[in-house]
Amino acid sequence: MCGIVGYLGFRNANSVLLDCLKRLDYRGYDSAGVLTVGEKLNLFKDVGDISVLRQDIPDFDGNLGIGHTRWATHGGVCRENAHPHLCCNSKIAVVHNGIVENFAELREELQGRGHVMCSETDTELIAHLIEENYSGNLERAVKKALKKIRGSYALAVVCEDEPDKLVGARRESPLIIGVGDNEQFLASDIPALLQYTNRVINLEDGELCVLSKGSMKVYDERSHMVSKQEYIVDWDVQDAEKAGFAHFMLKEIFEQPETVVSALRGRISEIQRTIMFQPAVEQLLRENVDHVQIIACGTSFYASYVGKYLMEQLANMRVGIELSSEFRFYGVKDENTLVVAVTQSGETADTIAALKQAKNAGCKTLVITNVAGSTATRIADAFILTQSGPEIGVAATKTFTSQLMVLYLLALKLGALGKQLSADMLYEHIARLRELPGQIRQILERSDGIKQVADIVKNAHSVFYIGRGVNYPLALEGALKLKEISYIHAEGFAAGELKHGPFALLTEDTPVVAIDTRDMAYDKLLVNIGEIKARGSPVIAVAEDDDSEIEKHADFVLRFPSKSLLPSCLPIVVVLQLLAYHVAALRNCSIDKPRNLAKSVTVE
Ligand code: M6R
Repeated sequence: MCGIVGYLGFRNANSVLLDCLKRLDYRGYDSAGVLTVGEKLNLFKDVGDISVLRQDIPDFDGNLGIGHTRWATHGGVCRENAHPHLCCNSKIAVVHNGIVENFAELREELQGRGHVMCSETDTELIAHLIEENYSGNLERAVKKALKKIRGSYALAVVCEDEPDKLVGARRESPLIIGVGDNEQFLASDIPALLQYTNRVINLEDGELCVLSKGSMKVYDERSHMVSKQEYIVDWDVQDAEKAGFAHFMLKEIFEQPETVVSALRGRISEIQRTIMFQPAVEQLLRENVDHVQIIACGTSFYASYVGKYLMEQLANMRVGIELSSEFRFYGVKDENTLVVAVTQSGETADTIAALKQAKNAGCKTLVITNVAGSTATRIADAFILTQSGPEIGVAATKTFTSQLMVLYLLALKLGALGKQLSADMLYEHIARLRELPGQIRQILERSDGIKQVADIVKNAHSVFYIGRGVNYPLALEGALKLKEISYIHAEGFAAGELKHGPFALLTEDTPVVAIDTRDMAYDKLLVNIGEIKARGSPVIAVAEDDDSEIEKHADFVLRFPSKSLLPSCLPIVVVLQLLAYHVAALRNCSIDKPRNLAKSVTVE
């Protein structure tokens, strides 16, 4: 994880870097630092997030600089381990996102040659390696140093002796160049730049860039100069602001009536009554696919789980799902499999590694992501964007519902291609999807009622979530949301599984959130609720508006409007998101930046 930025232009680098870092702190926030190149190198770093740094940092001059926000990997959280890191003579400074795998041997070698380490980090080694190779040309020294490194990196490097040069390099960690008028930027992610520019260039693995006044050069791994294509990002800076909400997470929850529609944008042909994706996706789906394998991590995995149910039911296909971190080592990969990687960021290291494995094994590969130009989109044969706008809160919310929408469209498309769905049936489903924004709005209007139930949950020792069928992955997602932002232990279970072990944990302090839809397993779920209540645990049902039966069984009922089983996933999720949010808010937790977590998990 970690976020890095670099700036070279005409503005005060110090304030540009702080602005950019503020929008990257979802990538890590245990410590932060900036360094500008004035008459000398001006360095300030400390423990805490950017707001802490902002209060104490002196007014450094200079129009060139680098900055970093950290999520610790090598070395604890302390000022010494914060970036930027300097070499022995303090003339070369580095910020880094990634992991140097041969850290131990390099450190020993460097110390053996007389280098003095000031931190426990792997990054500092890079500064010393560059110093050893420096003879007046920074990019040459960086190239030589990188040859010695095993592992992943996105780097920004400056040198006191070359005060108008910013060098960047990447391997397996994201790095983009922002292009402005007479100014250039480096950043880990697009939101960092939006205040200044929406013109972006992606660096590929192994590439190194040299930015200087009026010039930008990019070299590939063999040091050949490559020409790069700039593209325009259609997000604006307001998308990356809180817009009056107390937290990004709440803002992003409230954006969902718009973002679910946005996921449909450009994909429904009213005239032909069909779903259309980009030509590369269409071509891929028409190839000989006999098995779909979905891979993902965290919340994206739970969206994928729902996607499996959707594809199996709507397209009658065999669909496997596997965690990326497992699939990369153990998953079966063959040529007739369509591997669908679901990743909000498009940068999750485990998903990227699994996707590469699948590609190398000859699988057809498709990515569902929110970030155009992300690493995953560049590896896969084709990609579908969720079109949700930037998501800043570490807890995924609107991108989850957009992933569900895209997976729904994909299931419908596969169903239509496999002749499981007629055009009329397809259109009936699409009509249902179009009702979702209104249904989600109704849930948002009930936010205060959900807060009252949150008050009951806020002191719980542990919370269980249960559901059957498609509600099972929703239970997993509801539990993940609660645990990551409120720090209350929470687990999701298939409702039928409680009696096989978890019952032993039920007490009066263990509220159980039971997701109910009146499907074929409804009666069984009511039985499960009875079993739970018999053990003294309070039951909070999440149930349809017109389900009057449930009141006889549950202690509290949170309602959602529903017309049919599958699309009701989205309103249910919004109820669970608001419940988690209100519990965390009542507990005064750091909602947008939960402890020990980061938005983009670019380490394995
Ligand atoms: O960017 P990705 O979708 O690949 O991220 C995967 C997980 O790290 C992510 O979904 C994580 O679980 C969320 N922060 C949970 O809210």
